[in-house]
Amino acid sequence: MFQHVMRPSVAQLQPSLIRQVANGAMGREDVIPLWFGEPDVPTPAFIREAAKAVLDEGNTFYQPNAGMPALRQAIADYMNGLYGTRIDMDRIVVTGSGMMGLMLAGQVVVADGDTIVTHVPTWPNLPSVQQILGAQVKRVPLTLVDERYTLDLDRLFDAVDSRTRALLINSPSNPTGWMLTDAEQQTILDYCRARGIWLIADEVYSRIIYDRPYAPTFADKITDEDRVLIVNSFSKAWAMTGWRLGWLTIPRGLLTTFEMLMEYNSACVLAATQLAGVVALREGEPFIRQSMARYKASLDLLLTCFADLPRVMCPVPQAAFYAFFNVAGVTDSLAFAQQMLAEANVGLAPGRAFGPEGEGYLRLCYAVEPALLETALDRLEPLLK
Ligand SMILES: Cc1ncc(COP(=O)(O)O)c(C=O)c1O
Repeated sequence: MFQHVMRPSVAQLQPSLIRQVANGAMGREDVIPLWFGEPDVPTPAFIREAAKAVLDEGNTFYQPNAGMPALRQAIADYMNGLYGTRIDMDRIVVTGSGMMGLMLAGQVVVADGDTIVTHVPTWPNLPSVQQILGAQVKRVPLTLVDERYTLDLDRLFDAVDSRTRALLINSPSNPTGWMLTDAEQQTILDYCRARGIWLIADEVYSRIIYDRPYAPTFADKITDEDRVLIVNSFSKAWAMTGWRLGWLTIPRGLLTTFEMLMEYNSACVLAATQLAGVVALREGEPFIRQSMARYKASLDLLLTCFADLPRVMCPVPQAAFYAFFNVAGVTDSLAFAQQMLAEANVGLAPGRAFGPEGEGYLRLCYAVEPALLETALDRLEPLLK
């Protein structure tokens, strides 16, 4: 009804197909929800306690736009300790979620009529942000060779045109679990430098990895001046999805710009949330290790089960906590996800939600107890046989 009086790029937005399956069944006790990307446990108690203490002290006030110095320093320390980098807090901006980090990064970089090049299938929010800001998104498909995803970098670079402002890279990727190697990251960075374009790197799954402490990161390859914006989040590794806390790593010299944008978007993040973030970074490593062991057990269970189902083809995810699998014969993944919900009481995300490239696929978030996943798989088996 209001379509013609809206900003055209907003009028074109489509509702999420994941929500289309989940709406109406969310919170139903008989449904096993594996549709969204979040751990099945609440945030660890030591993090919640830290937030409670801040609220009890009465710190409910506005905070600095770039984030509280204590958190910005803790983030810089965390990154430097993990990656061996030397990033200082002038290059860190606290955001009210990874999602907000993506929006702010886009607001800095993108103008009407620009093109942004990214890889697909993709979490739909990544291109949507760019579209809202008026950019056209060029989609380069991952290629599947021997049930393994790769990104053909020549194809990625070939999609860059004279209007391209940025490459948008999400590694490790939602939904595929694919990730770049260090060498590929270096090639991408060198290309962006030579071409004078931005790189927006979504690394929110950098700790959701099973064979090493962190996934290859652009953070240990960039200089202070590179036009690279790295988006990160507390949601996944620290099981803090509902808190809405993330951060951006930005080039030196852009802090004031981001402070202004934070001011005009939300001003700041609640102090209790930020100081809980400090505790998460400083004391959260055992929780991350435990979570990875748990998710790995669920992943192994899933792959063993899928191996017995000839209709199912699931490239082994290298990182993140999703299985993105094809089911032979399925041509309408939305209808199939709805059928799974109706007949098996298991909630999955339809592959088409991640772009036309994902049709025929389903995404399952396996960041749950192995026993629960086993029940879900038992219920799904008749539909997948
Ligand atoms: C690839 C990717 N980036 C960013 C986010 C945003 O996370 P949040 O806004 O919860 O920090 C998500 C969440 O699902 C994601 O999958």
